[in-house]
Amino acid sequence: MCGIIAYRGDGEKDANEVVLKGLKSLEYRGYDSWGVASRKDQKIKQIKNIGKIGHIELEQLGLAKSKTSIGHTRWATHGSVHKRNAHPHASSCGSVSVVHNGIIENFQELRAMLSEEGIEFSTDTDTEVIPHNIMHLMKGGDSFEEAFRKTLLSLRGSFAVVAIHSDHDVLLGARNGSPLVLGIGDNDHFLASDVPAFLEHTSKVTYLDDDDMVVISDSGHKVISLLDGKESIRDIHTVTWDVEQAKKGKYDHFMTKEIDEQKTTIKNAIEQDSELIDKCIEALNDANGVFFVGCGTSYHACVSASYQFSHIAKEHVNVVLASEFRNYEEFLNEKTLMVAVSQSGETADLLDAVKTAKRKGVKIMCIVNVMGSTLMRISDIAVLMNAGPEICVLSTKSYTSQLSILTLLAYGLADRLDEGRRLIMKVSDSVGSIIKKSEPIVSALAERFKTSSNMFLIGRDLAYPSALEGALKIKEVSYIHAEGFAGGELKHGTIALIEENVPVIVLSTDSTRELIVSNAMEIRSRGGYIIGIDSVPNPVFDTFIKIDSFGNADPIAMIIPIQLLSYHLAIQRGCDPDKPRNLAKSVTVK
Ligand code: AGP
Repeated sequence: MCGIIAYRGDGEKDANEVVLKGLKSLEYRGYDSWGVASRKDQKIKQIKNIGKIGHIELEQLGLAKSKTSIGHTRWATHGSVHKRNAHPHASSCGSVSVVHNGIIENFQELRAMLSEEGIEFSTDTDTEVIPHNIMHLMKGGDSFEEAFRKTLLSLRGSFAVVAIHSDHDVLLGARNGSPLVLGIGDNDHFLASDVPAFLEHTSKVTYLDDDDMVVISDSGHKVISLLDGKESIRDIHTVTWDVEQAKKGKYDHFMTKEIDEQKTTIKNAIEQDSELIDKCIEALNDANGVFFVGCGTSYHACVSASYQFSHIAKEHVNVVLASEFRNYEEFLNEKTLMVAVSQSGETADLLDAVKTAKRKGVKIMCIVNVMGSTLMRISDIAVLMNAGPEICVLSTKSYTSQLSILTLLAYGLADRLDEGRRLIMKVSDSVGSIIKKSEPIVSALAERFKTSSNMFLIGRDLAYPSALEGALKIKEVSYIHAEGFAGGELKHGTIALIEENVPVIVLSTDSTRELIVSNAMEIRSRGGYIIGIDSVPNPVFDTFIKIDSFGNADPIAMIIPIQLLSYHLAIQRGCDPDKPRNLAKSVTVK
């Protein structure tokens, strides 16, 4: 949550232009407000505003060309969505300017201490303690670098922070619990929450660890420890994502681009190094107790996989929401395996669960999309999804990639790897026709139901997690209330909400058809409008969306028309599909 981009160059490029572009590409991390601070001629000028940065042009910033600039796009935590709470935040004299992602848990304590020193606060944020404390320490004789390090050491919570000072020609950054990546150009440097923010300038990166601080000056960059100030040498990696993947291209929105990309991403997900897959299967075989853990969509992939592990590999796995994982601490030991699933690899709840597991000696296997993410680096085994950057706030292609990898592992565990691979490839080959055939149907459905207040989705067995995920997609992008149920559950209460013309999506498969069709009839006889997703038509369906049958791989295919329906509902209702209200792509606060 919140996006940071900072740039320090040799004066050739305009730092403000780099930062403005970077902010636009980071907006998926938060879009309540934005701001830029630019350093020129030993002065810092700050610009901030509420709302999205999307259409702001460089000229509108009114900033003179500079070689150092920092920017921030905000997902509000402490302090309302107001211009005064937008980042960057400055010290009272305006000399220090700071952007921050994360939460400072002891900010009240620090604020009280600084207020006693006579410092006046002008925002409601937790962040404002940082520039004031830096300035306070500098008045006591510390250098900018040392005051920054000491200030960050005094913070409790999670942070990625970048700071500049009007009188010092350096760019400082540090992280502890929130992401920050160093981009290294030929004559310039970048600090950002995510690689796409600077990918068009460089693909050379150094992934920073917790308690790392970076000092960028005319002599290059150095990484030192926040704890003792000692320098360490870090590897430089080359990012394999290309800049075009992070652009919309011919599409109106990232959401449709990413739905469409499933034509290749499902295949890419299962094209894994065979030694890595063997290692995963060995870890699953050796484990005494397996926990699948994730949040939101990634959690739904875990629920779905638990059915596949049961059906295909006859293995029981525990599925736990990352934010609830602490309750399972007593059941963990060195023989336990955690499979942590995440697109970003930066979700705070998930990282917290992984840390809990690691304390107990649990082995961590992760399925993750973002290379170099915190999750990838703290896991014992990492399987990359190879889906390319997912920019739309909604998870679409990352979900089917997660499902594909987990399905493959279930087949691997059953010693039927090739069969699994063939089945998933069949789904991959049919994505184009699923999209082509279902798009006109879901677009008409969106027109018809755009004013509905409620939608329901039901599915049994493997189709049940797809109902949960489908409901999440509809809710988060169209703001229509949607709920997913196991087919048998609706009659235990929620059927009371079915009345004339309430749309209900019925996910039917070869093995569940008889029972789910009975459930559909119960709904239809109370006036519900039945949208059937199945491989064969049925008289109970008012609208039928045909999806071929893929057996154990059905969940990978059947979510696609619902992703599309969600998109069309959003468009019909005038919602922004890429940046739904109140959300952020990467949820880096607990
Ligand atoms: C779903 O569309 C959301 N993007 C959200 O539920 C997401 O899946 C969740 O926040 C977990 O994110 P992660 O996969 O990056 O860990």
